[in-house]
Amino acid sequence: MPIPKAELHLHIEGTLEPELAFALARRNGIDLPFADAEALRAAYAFADLQSFLDLYYELMAVLRAEQDFTDLAEAYLRRARADGVRHAEIFFDPQAHTVRGVPFETVVAGLSAALTDSRERYGISTGLILCFLRDQSADSAMETLDAAEDHLDKLIGVGLDSAEVGHPPAKFAQVFRRAAELGLHRVAHAGEEGPPAYVREALDVLGAERIDHGIRSMEDSELVARLRTERIPLTVCPFSNVRLRAVDHLGMHPLRRMLEAGLVATVNSDDPAYFGGYVQENLEATAAALALTDDQISTLARNSFEASFLDEATKSAYLAELDAYLAVP
Ligand code: ADE
Ligand code: ZN
Repeated sequence: MPIPKAELHLHIEGTLEPELAFALARRNGIDLPFADAEALRAAYAFADLQSFLDLYYELMAVLRAEQDFTDLAEAYLRRARADGVRHAEIFFDPQAHTVRGVPFETVVAGLSAALTDSRERYGISTGLILCFLRDQSADSAMETLDAAEDHLDKLIGVGLDSAEVGHPPAKFAQVFRRAAELGLHRVAHAGEEGPPAYVREALDVLGAERIDHGIRSMEDSELVARLRTERIPLTVCPFSNVRLRAVDHLGMHPLRRMLEAGLVATVNSDDPAYFGGYVQENLEATAAALALTDDQISTLARNSFEASFLDEATKSAYLAELDAYLAVP
C-alpha cells in the first residue's frame, strides 16, 4: 500500500491520457492529428516547457461538454486513490477553455460534479485552484477572476502557470490582490525555467503561500535561507523537470539537496499523462535515483499534508493516519 500523501501540484488537464483523449474526440466529433493513442504517446518527447504546452493546449480541444470535465477528473481520482493520495489540490486552466468557446460555467460545473463528495466517493478530499495563464494579459486574468466570483464556494485558491520565462509574476499583482480580498489562497509556478528572482517576486508581489516547482531557488543561497526560515512549501515535480529538460536526469534532481537544506519540499506529478507517471511513481523513482532515506520519504509525505490548505483538524487527522502507516514495520 503506497504511503498516504497529499498531491498539491496537479493540472487536471495534464491527466488527459491518450486513450481518454481519443474517446472524447470520438464523442465530440473531433479529428485529432494522430492515428491513435500509441502515435499520440509517441509524440510526448519535449524539448522544453513551451514544446509541451503546445501539445497540452492542442489536445484540450477534445474537452467540450460538462461531462468531459467530469470524466477527466473522475479518472484522476481513481488513479490517485490507488497511489495513496488522501487529499488533492487540483489546478485547472479556465482561459484555455473559454478561448475555445467553452464557458467558464461548463468547466467548473463539470469538474465540481466529480469533486463534490470526493472523500465519500473516492476516499480523497479535494480542492480546486484556478490558474491564470501568465502568457495571457492581466486583463484576461481579471476577467477570469470576475467570472469566478459566482463560484467561490467551489474554489480554494488561485495559481499562475503556463510559459514562465519573459512573464514575471508582477504583471498579476492586481489580480492576486483581488483574489486575496475574495478570501482565496494564492500559489504560483516560479523557478521552473525562470530565475530565482521570479520566486522572490511571487512571494513579495503576489503573496504566494506556496511555490510550484521552485527548483531554481537552489541557485540563490539567500533565497534558500528565506524559504527555509519562512517555511514556504515548494511543490516539486521530478518527472516533469526531467521530461521538460529543466534537469538532465533524475539522478541530478535537486530534491535531495532541497530536503537537506531544510526546505518544505513535496513530490507531485504536475501533468502525469504526459510525463510518464503519477505521484507514487514520481516518489519511488526519485527516491531510488537520489537514494533518499526512509526519513526523507516520510518527511515528503508529512510536508504534503502540512503544506496543504486543509484546516488544522483535518491536517492532524491525515498526519495521524500517516504516523499509523509508518508505525507498521
Ligand atoms: N501548465 C501545465 N503544466 C505546467 C507546467 N509544468 N509549468 C507551467 N505551466 C503548466
Ligand atoms: Zn505545473
